[in-house]
Amino acid sequence: MNKANILVTGGLGYIGSHTSVELINNSYNVTIIDSLINSEKFILERIEKITGKKIPFYEFDITNYKKTSECFKENNFDFVIHFAALKSVNESVKYPDKYMKNNLDSLKNILKCIESQNLSGIVFSSSCTVYGQPDNLPVNENSPFKKPESPYAETKQICEKLIEKFSDEKRKHGISLRYFNPVGAHNSSLIGELPRGIPDNLIPYITQSAIGKRKKLKVFGKDYNTSDGTPVRDYIHVVDLANAHVQALNRLIEKKSKKFYEFFNVGTGKGHSVLEVIKSFEKVNNIKLPYEIVSRREGDIEKIYSDTNLSRNELNWKAERNLDEMMKSAWKWEKTLKDLGS
Ligand code: UD1
Repeated sequence: MNKANILVTGGLGYIGSHTSVELINNSYNVTIIDSLINSEKFILERIEKITGKKIPFYEFDITNYKKTSECFKENNFDFVIHFAALKSVNESVKYPDKYMKNNLDSLKNILKCIESQNLSGIVFSSSCTVYGQPDNLPVNENSPFKKPESPYAETKQICEKLIEKFSDEKRKHGISLRYFNPVGAHNSSLIGELPRGIPDNLIPYITQSAIGKRKKLKVFGKDYNTSDGTPVRDYIHVVDLANAHVQALNRLIEKKSKKFYEFFNVGTGKGHSVLEVIKSFEKVNNIKLPYEIVSRREGDIEKIYSDTNLSRNELNWKAERNLDEMMKSAWKWEKTLKDLGS
């Protein structure tokens, strides 16, 4: 199947926008649905500018089954890449019911439409959060789901199980990609992360502190059992992550899947502590970052990084960009946002 038609839900969001660009660069036809609840319409024009392609776009919330099924009927999609979901860990703790309803209803609608319109399959945006704090590191895909650390994590676990059941029962193909910590931005500086309000995540907090939007970064805890006492994560450049989706789709199209439902880690395989991230940011951008050590953040795990063997061998994918490149790219994007006055 050449030039397959791909529906990207949440295609104007941070990972969705970068993935849409890489899909188009790899000759896929992309249609985007996005509710704009956590994204901006101008990102569509930016994707079109980068790729030189006009992209069919629908603005609605896929928890609306009627609109979703109409859109599927109007088009001739082959596969769905499903990003559209609520993603704030903190917010999910405050509003667990909202997270469960939104993230599950939207997936169920997509699966119903995949079945009724007879699409070939789905690639799902999952997270390493499904593992909780794993017993062994690097964490590989055989590690069990631990008790979820947040309602957000629980939605990812349940969504994966729903896709597994659906794929096996309906004999459709599904791949979940379990992302580690996505950071950085597209080299064009036309698209990148657009956090609303005060960022929860480390990298936007670093760049906003460096540019003066925030007073200083708070490093949450220095008493963990790690080399320098700060927690360790596997940071991955968002363009590398986007390319993992292209590889997942290629696998489905080339019929290389070994089972109806498969899942892969998408990380670099390297763990970096918060202080290492700060050092890299300061070094490559020649900036002194204002920060202070404060107490631990509730719900943070100590250490996680990915075993990359399965994604390397089966998806034929590996991350190309290192931490220094991620920190350069994140800073370049923050400066672009400043120039835009946002
Ligand atoms: C969380 C989620 C993950 C989600 C990701 C991106 C969990 C266990 N993980 O990852 O599923 O995909 O967000 O949305 O729920 N830090 C500071 N100061 C800050 C911010 C963060 O020191 O102001 C530290 C944290 O303690 C952590 C590291 O930086 O050690 C990374 O934090 P963050 O970027 O929020 O990502 P995770 O919590 O790893």
